[in-house]
Formats: sequence, structure tokens, C-alpha cells
Amino acid sequence: MAQIGYSEKVMKHFMNPRNVGTIDNPDGYGKVGNPVCGDLMEMFIKVEDDVITDIKFRTFGCGSAIATSSMVTEMAKGMHIDEAIKITRADVADELEGLPPQKMHCSNLAADALRAAIRDYLARKEKRAKG
Ligand code: FES
Repeated sequence: MAQIGYSEKVMKHFMNPRNVGTIDNPDGYGKVGNPVCGDLMEMFIKVEDDVITDIKFRTFGCGSAIATSSMVTEMAKGMHIDEAIKITRADVADELEGLPPQKMHCSNLAADALRAAIRDYLARKEKRAKG
């Protein structure tokens, strides 16, 4: 594995991913496909007072997608949605101490799915506000 340039941290998250699964009745749900490889990612969030209290993901993506999603969910848990929506694939790759260049597109999935879930939450909130 080291030969293809995965950091130890990537390997740790890949072998033992955090927050895998689904959430019943999530406050926000996002699903995105990766145009490069066709893999899918789903993200579920629970939100209280605009803070992400719980987050889970499910993916058909590769090892890098699993590792980056695991990392994203750890970063986002406990974060205000205004902050979480700004998490970029670069932040995630940095946290993971880098990804091989040919795998950078995989980290899009996690950050994009999180943003989709937050947008879904915001849309539902607006709908509720309008009654
Ligand atoms: Fe598809 Fe990595 S190759 S997510």
C-alpha cells in the first residue's frame, strides 16, 4: 500500500472507518455520484440548533472514498452547519496527510455528499419556516 502513496492515516480510516451506516429520519440527506468513476455516496445528518450532532455515510466507493468519508464525518460531527458546508476536498486530504493525485477525485464524494445533506437540511428548515 505504501508504494501507491497512501498515508498511514488514510490506511487507518480505510481499515477502521468511523460513522458507517444510515440514520433513520435524518434531518438532512445527500446522495452524490462521482462523474469520474461512477461510484456513489450517501450522507445522513442529524442537526440540533444548526449543529451536526450525528452523521453517517454509506458508499459504493473505493478505499479512498471510504477513508475520506470517515474523515469528513469525524470533522463535521459537532460542527455548526455554516462551518461544515465549507469543508473542501483539500481540507479532507490535508487532514489525511495527503492522497495520491490519481485519488483526489475520490475525496470529492465525501465533501460533496456532506454539502448536499446540509443543503437538504436547510431546504427542509426553510419549508418548515414557511409552514
Ligand atoms: Fe470511485 Fe474512488 S475510484 S470513489
